[in-house]
Amino acid sequence: MSLRTGCGAVAPHAQRNEMTDTDDHPHTSELRSFGRRRARSFGPRQQRLWDENLSKFALELTQPTAAQIPPDRDVWLEIGFGGAEHMLWQAEHNPGVTLIGCEPFEDGVVKALGGIEDRGLTNIRLHADDARPLLRWLLDASVARAFILFPDPWPKKKHVKRRLIGTPLLAELARVLKPGAELRIGTDIGDYARTILLAVMPHPAFEWPALGPEDWRIRGDDWPQTRYEQKAVREGRARYYFRFRRKDCVT
Ligand SMILES: C[S@@+](CC[C@H](N)C(=O)[O-])C[C@H]1O[C@@H](n2cnc3c(N)ncnc32)[C@H](O)[C@@H]1O
Repeated sequence: MSLRTGCGAVAPHAQRNEMTDTDDHPHTSELRSFGRRRARSFGPRQQRLWDENLSKFALELTQPTAAQIPPDRDVWLEIGFGGAEHMLWQAEHNPGVTLIGCEPFEDGVVKALGGIEDRGLTNIRLHADDARPLLRWLLDASVARAFILFPDPWPKKKHVKRRLIGTPLLAELARVLKPGAELRIGTDIGDYARTILLAVMPHPAFEWPALGPEDWRIRGDDWPQTRYEQKAVREGRARYYFRFRRKDCVT
């Protein structure tokens, strides 16, 4: 038995990586928004990175937030970093910022750990799991920028309810983002782009300072392409790049 995820990938296993409805969060009403946890077995380097390095960078959500996030630096958050290309680029180009990356797909987490080691980065913290408990753990107005790049599209009608971006996630983002913070969202699914706009535009905490089509058609130099986006380009799909702003005050 295999699992077709929102990304369209197929998980080979039928054991712990298989998603069933029982994997939806038992203590909340949240449905699982991601597909497989792991695609293939780790090689020796990947296993070492997982065993020895993850704990050096992982946030401990059972411990107080303030002790783990340096208070004197801007914090940026990337939800669902996939292969980590964008997160590593941002960390390397913004050494004064602490990047928090979260991703439940373990192959992606190991890629991030490899990139951190190869580039000698010290400004990344990881949560190798669902973003929603992490968001609940973060302090109010503590994040200066957030990225959600090409969230799983869940194209089938019966799976649309699993899409990550919606009212509950926006409520948490509105709480953790600082006034004036940017929320960047990219998608290559027109229907998802529409859903995102319909959720964000009426939200009292967010505004969309776009002046014209260039605002959502052009990615910009400080927004490097992700692996998933490269696939969308190859397959000829239009991309939408949204830059929303957390309002200074909520009326
Ligand atoms: C389509 S992939 C895109 C990955 C990457 N951002 C890119 O553009 O290449 C979506 C990613 O979001 C992750 N994801 C889905 N639900 C998530 C959640 N609740 N918390 C954190 N990450 C999630 C998936 O595991 C997957 O890696």
